[in-house]
Amino acid sequence: MRRKQTRNSTNGSRSAGPDAIRLLKADHATVKKLFKQFEKTDDEAVKQELAATICNELTVHTTIEEEIFYPAAREAIDDEDLLDEAKVEHASAKELIAQIEGGSPDDDLWEAKVTVLGEYINHHVKEEQDELFPQVKKSGIDLKELGQRLEARKVELTGAQPSRRSKASNSSSRKEGARSARAGA
Ligand SMILES: [Fe+2]
Ligand SMILES: [Fe+2]
Repeated sequence: MRRKQTRNSTNGSRSAGPDAIRLLKADHATVKKLFKQFEKTDDEAVKQELAATICNELTVHTTIEEEIFYPAAREAIDDEDLLDEAKVEHASAKELIAQIEGGSPDDDLWEAKVTVLGEYINHHVKEEQDELFPQVKKSGIDLKELGQRLEARKVELTGAQPSRRSKASNSSSRKEGARSARAGA
């Protein structure tokens, strides 16, 4: 998903790049699109490649949320339950991701696992976007500063240039990043 850069802002170069919520929503949109592509294709090699990309994207996304966004949100809003649930949902998603990465389209339930992961992520994303993000936005937290930290960590994990990422065919360096993200999680 294309993000508009705001480097023409008059209040200092500090404000370049997306705010935290825009960045996370762009990630959500990227993954949603990948799940749709997965659903549409019958080509097993393409399915495998897409699933690998989905798993990498989600690993990086959950890592930056858990390391940076959720702790900031926990301080900014008064809704511990929501953040606890989000963390549990991440943990379940990671179990499915591990099973998908450890399997292949030849396995009986592999495709079903990717489909269920998609449904699961849909639900989780809806809660973030409908409940968590509005509360965080209302709290008055500095979303620009938070966005910069998220972006910087993402670049670290993926080796990608900011706002020039997510091509299904170019995931090898990102695999490394996702792997180290998992190792450190
Ligand atoms: Fe999340
Ligand atoms: Fe998210």
